[in-house]
Amino acid sequence: MITAAEIQPEFESLLERKAFERIRREAFDYIARGAGSEATMKENLGAFSKWKIRPRVLRNVAEIDLSTTLFNRKLSSPFLFAPIGVQRIAHPDGELASARVAKATDVPFVVSSAASYSMEEIASELEESTRWFQLYCSLEDTVTKSLVNRAEANGYSAIVITVDTPVLGIRETDAHNQYSPLEEGDGCGNYLNDPAFRALLARPPEADMKAALQKQIDIIDQPGLDWDELKKIRRMTKLPILLKGILHPEDAKLALEHNIDGIIVSNHGGRQLDHCIASLDALPDIAQVIQKRIPILLDSGIRTGVDVFKALALGADAVLLGRPFIYGLAVNGEAGVRQVIHKIRHELETSMALAGARTIQEINSDLLFNS
Ligand SMILES: Cc1cc2nc3c(=O)[nH]c(=O)nc-3n(C[C@H](O)[C@H](O)[C@H](O)COP(=O)(O)O)c2cc1C
Repeated sequence: MITAAEIQPEFESLLERKAFERIRREAFDYIARGAGSEATMKENLGAFSKWKIRPRVLRNVAEIDLSTTLFNRKLSSPFLFAPIGVQRIAHPDGELASARVAKATDVPFVVSSAASYSMEEIASELEESTRWFQLYCSLEDTVTKSLVNRAEANGYSAIVITVDTPVLGIRETDAHNQYSPLEEGDGCGNYLNDPAFRALLARPPEADMKAALQKQIDIIDQPGLDWDELKKIRRMTKLPILLKGILHPEDAKLALEHNIDGIIVSNHGGRQLDHCIASLDALPDIAQVIQKRIPILLDSGIRTGVDVFKALALGADAVLLGRPFIYGLAVNGEAGVRQVIHKIRHELETSMALAGARTIQEINSDLLFNS
């Protein structure tokens, strides 16, 4: 019997196809594929196709301004790099290459807990550029605290807590390939040198790497995380805290009640829960609850500048770019990532001009039509 894992991938873009040709099959599958039957991944893209732009004309679009503000900082465009771990599986320079593009293009960079390089190494590439740290709350409080402290000490200006990963989703392809980038040591940049993490090991990583990597896998996240536990992290830092992986309006309400500073509507790119609501479909009800009190970001399915436009029109303040920049990284390293950012920015600017929206604030649901 042929399993889902063995089915040849259908490429969603030329860029994805090129990435497939460039990197090792297991790494490509890890990046491109999703949980279970991949219904969530398909929903994510399908949700964007349901919406059409209903343009306004004769609005003098000679000047288009893509800039916006998040947490009192000006962004030159309404998107950020999503926290994507293990970037070395796409290119040897991994996060260092994408961080260089983040700096050059003025796009904030969100560093993953499971980055291939350490947050210190990535920060030194980013210099003064805006960066946030994505936190997997560890089973060990000492490790969580140490990661947060290091983020603060290295100029990270927000903590993104990922809340849709209490356990890992079922990824059939990775199981079929018997592939785990964490086991191979491609996602340990933040752990192996962390003093609190090292204190948990019977022998240092230099003496027993396999055991150290297994320890990271065992403690990277905690299934027991709940709203009460989150209060601990609130007490650890004064940085703004965003929750990544909110899809239900009731959870958005709870986030407000718990003084969370921002939310990211996300289903982790369809890598966690199969048959999950598309992020874009979840957005309008959440925007209704939030009523602009805190920023709403969205990811999962953003492929073009037109998608950015649609997400903003439905209530997002900004979006996170995921797989497209990793495909760019796989195809041509730093230059590949830069091309992706330029392309998405150009598409957004052009769609705004053609839809009659001169500023990010002018993008609203009146410019959309649900077909
Ligand atoms: C290879 C890969 C690794 C990822 N690693 C992380 C991670 O370490 N932490 C996290 O919060 N999300 C992670 N994500 C999810 C992204 O942050 C984002 O939610 C997702 O890529 C959005 O879906 P899209 O890329 O299909 O648009 C990862 C996604 C991919 C593709």
